[in-house]
Amino acid sequence: MSVALNTAPFLTALLSNVAPGMHASIEARLAKHLPNLYQTLQALYGDQFSDEQAYATWLAELLQVTGEAIAARPLPLQALDTARSTDKNWFTKENMLGYCCYVDRFASDLRGVRQRIPHLQELGVTYLHLLPFLKARAGENDGGFAVADFDAIEPRLGNMADLEELSSALRAAGISLCSDFILNHVADDHPWAIAAKQGDPHYRDYFYHYPDRTAPDNFEKNLGQVFPQVAPGNFSFVPELQEWVWTTFYPYQWDLNYSNPKVFADMAAALLRLANRGVEAFRLDSTAFLWKRAGTKCMNQPEAHQILQALRSLVDIAAPGVLLKAEAIVETAELPAYLGSNDGTNSKQECHLAYHSSLMAASWVALTEQDTSLMRHVFAGTPALPEQSSWLTYVRCHDDIGWNVLRPEASIETEDVQQRLARVSRFYSGDGSYARGASFQADDPAAVHGTVGMAAALTGFSSAHTATEKHLARQRLLLLYGLSFCFGGMPLIYMGDELAQANDETYLQVPAQAADNRWLHRPVWDRELYAKRHSSLHDAGAVFNALAHMLQQRRQLPQLAAQEARHLLNAKDPAVLAFLRGSTDAPLLFLGNFSENSINLNMAELLENYDISDSNWMNQLDKSEMKTTVTLQAYTQLWLVRK
Ligand code: GLC
Repeated sequence: MSVALNTAPFLTALLSNVAPGMHASIEARLAKHLPNLYQTLQALYGDQFSDEQAYATWLAELLQVTGEAIAARPLPLQALDTARSTDKNWFTKENMLGYCCYVDRFASDLRGVRQRIPHLQELGVTYLHLLPFLKARAGENDGGFAVADFDAIEPRLGNMADLEELSSALRAAGISLCSDFILNHVADDHPWAIAAKQGDPHYRDYFYHYPDRTAPDNFEKNLGQVFPQVAPGNFSFVPELQEWVWTTFYPYQWDLNYSNPKVFADMAAALLRLANRGVEAFRLDSTAFLWKRAGTKCMNQPEAHQILQALRSLVDIAAPGVLLKAEAIVETAELPAYLGSNDGTNSKQECHLAYHSSLMAASWVALTEQDTSLMRHVFAGTPALPEQSSWLTYVRCHDDIGWNVLRPEASIETEDVQQRLARVSRFYSGDGSYARGASFQADDPAAVHGTVGMAAALTGFSSAHTATEKHLARQRLLLLYGLSFCFGGMPLIYMGDELAQANDETYLQVPAQAADNRWLHRPVWDRELYAKRHSSLHDAGAVFNALAHMLQQRRQLPQLAAQEARHLLNAKDPAVLAFLRGSTDAPLLFLGNFSENSINLNMAELLENYDISDSNWMNQLDKSEMKTTVTLQAYTQLWLVRK
């Protein structure tokens, strides 16, 4: 933009459908976000228009559609937008807690989820991520990640009215509903794909399609594979088209062509329509893959970030109470960019939240190696959060634990990274260990891809026979969750972990699931375990009570808000992870022992660089007091505050 931007035509387009009473506030939002939006979309798409005027006309049309979404936004959601505009850090506080589940597995359908709100409240959940519930492809659909219609609910889960009722009921209970928004691809039976197959040139260009293998083979030289066993390669031959279509994931998931501005406009409009149904947060699926560039891995490209930044600007204009969360399972160094960038002269907001997948994977490595070195590198590689953003911290999710994101950290102390990660992977598939998971997409035990299994199976519950073994399994599970509660972000509980729920082998009998062993850790909600949640004699109760207690303590510790500082300490013993949160004069000190040995720590030595080294400390978790020496039993964590 060489000259000052004339906002008038954009304002006219945006306000054309909006009630006069809202004009002033919407105008203020546009004034704030238009410069970035204009610039970002111009960088992405400007060269596709005959001149700048033609580009501006397209942008005005996009803003007109955005204005329609504003006009249709229900009043309670507008009120939420206003409230959150004055409390922009609402989602970074120490009380935030996520919960993630499949609708059908948790509660049969959307109405059933409503019935489970008391369970969520008992844990203190403030954010509920329901895995895909939009109308999915008929037949195999990757657990709903192949969407056939962004404006319809999967019929067996309910309808739009159910979604609206659920989102209001959750809101009334202080819980924000998070929905997946599968940005990268649509199902091969989505109307756009069907039109493309029927030869409609408009919709053919919603996808990447190639007449022969020349371009695909060229791209493949640098591309990775998400499902190397069950869906090798990144392109699928589509007989109806007689062409090769880009399919990063399964052949029935067609990657969208974001170099086409119409794709961006249609997807943005679909997201805003869904926001008006009461969805307060969007998990933007597979964000790393949104832009393709020959000669690269086609991940984390600058344009993928621009797409997200433009989406953020539109959301900030139309629905500023809504959060965007990036799912980018990428190396630590690539993660911060998903939370926005600041090059000194220009700050670009992107997603409000991003999964810290390296921290998650590294915490599992620490358990295996009984050594926190690799995790400490992940800590060191995690910069302070930009304003108004937060990590999403977690222990397990519906996907595998991918080990390859840790290659940079794993190579720091080891020459043979492959061997190191393969050892971790074998450990979790039960090779001489307490874990009872399985390898994901790798038959070869020397290959490394991912690990599947419920947290309880991976931490040793499923192999435990004695009381001691059970105790250790519980300590390990709580240690990983404790870290996710204290690191600095919004922690997420994966359904079933709060009850130490085990693996579910029944997927092997379901033809549409049998080839994808991620279903091993997607069990159906277990009512019997739930009934035992208060009984400490039972594993479910012992874990539930402990987690609920930790969460209750967490809510009382403002040092644990995501934006509070974090200082990694050197505990001398590599099995111990030690860090401070909050101000250094009134911090929370997290100590975690990732080994099976009991370890003594000298507090003065640990805190030698801080003025608080001679303090008296209290463990917030059990109110016990300590001073000079602290003993950490196997897999124990302490949350220490100064007395
Ligand atoms: C994301 C989802 C995963 C899915 C993939 C393709 O990574 O988490 O479950 O298979 O996207 O949509």
